[in-house]
Amino acid sequence: MAEAMDVAQKAQRVVPVALDARSYEIVIGRGVLADANARLAALGARAAAIVTDEHVGSLHAPALTAMLERAGLRASVISVKPGEATKAFSTLEHVCGAILDARIERGDLVIALGGGVVGDLAGFAAAIVRRGIRFVQVPTSLLAQVDSSVGGKTGINAPQGKNLIGAFHQPSLVLADTALLDTLPLREIRAGYAETVKYGLIDNPAFFDWCDANWPGIYGGGPEREHAVEIACRAKAAIVARDERETGDRALLNLGHTFGHALERVTGYDSTRLIHGEAVALGMAQAFRFSVAQGLCDPRDAERVEAHLREAGLPTRLADIPGGDMPGGIGSVDDLLGAMAQDKKVVGGALTFILARGIGASFIAKGVPADDVRAFLAQELAGSNGA
Ligand code: GLY
Repeated sequence: MAEAMDVAQKAQRVVPVALDARSYEIVIGRGVLADANARLAALGARAAAIVTDEHVGSLHAPALTAMLERAGLRASVISVKPGEATKAFSTLEHVCGAILDARIERGDLVIALGGGVVGDLAGFAAAIVRRGIRFVQVPTSLLAQVDSSVGGKTGINAPQGKNLIGAFHQPSLVLADTALLDTLPLREIRAGYAETVKYGLIDNPAFFDWCDANWPGIYGGGPEREHAVEIACRAKAAIVARDERETGDRALLNLGHTFGHALERVTGYDSTRLIHGEAVALGMAQAFRFSVAQGLCDPRDAERVEAHLREAGLPTRLADIPGGDMPGGIGSVDDLLGAMAQDKKVVGGALTFILARGIGASFIAKGVPADDVRAFLAQELAGSNGA
């Protein structure tokens, strides 16, 4: 049964991330951006470079610039093209140069205004320009609010795989204004929802039950949305506080990501086919099915996870990817295994997966035999296209 949770509308919800001298707050709520001048002024900077994409910038950069000026900061805007292809060396070079041209000093701020792509890119630029400038995350997608804006993972993609070049660089503040999500396309809300319900699947079965009953409120912009962002951020903050550099528990946040990253790679990061949150949803369904195949998980839990994700409009089968039901439409078992072998979670060639003993009972499974993965993928591919 869905547990009762406090979804009352509150002006602001503040989630601390406890990292000693690098501690910061995540401020969540409708309209928190417009009211953030005091918080920004308190950071003591004189100038800020807003890094954004052309689409988000046209919607939200003028209001952010005005608010920064009210806070007494000189503001400039650096705009990049939207889309995953922006997480590349060429754009990083452009952004770093533009930050220097804007005379942003070490005590100043880089502000990432956008979704996960902008947050990762701007955060990495902030990590390396002048050997580290403070940065503020203003996530404008649900996915960024519940996951990528928190925890300090920054970086770009390499031809060899996603996020393979980067740095840990914690933000000084995260402003998660849930009103900014009102302009998001439904597909982006769904993708962010996958990363939200993930926290229930990792270790919070009551939150999974709550999501199962309340996901329409999250999609529709009711108070359930702020509540879900808060629960997700609290869960992530707790994991990051105990394992900032992913030497242990933080890997749990990668539930669905080993399969998901491989699917993104074999579909060429083509957003018309698959976006990150969709890949994570499909990857989580696969992680549960693989857990069943390994004799670890009750099949009824895997079925419930799949039914829930499908009800929420997310892909759970390879055939759900456009072209995925055609022979070769998402490559071969070897293509998928090859993509997994580039994953950061590979140690000495052995694969690490996040598997589950049930809903809310995920764990880190090291040294999973490649033959088992191969057999499972062959079954998944056969199920999608009859090959
Ligand atoms: N998105 C996974 C992490 O931040 O560790």
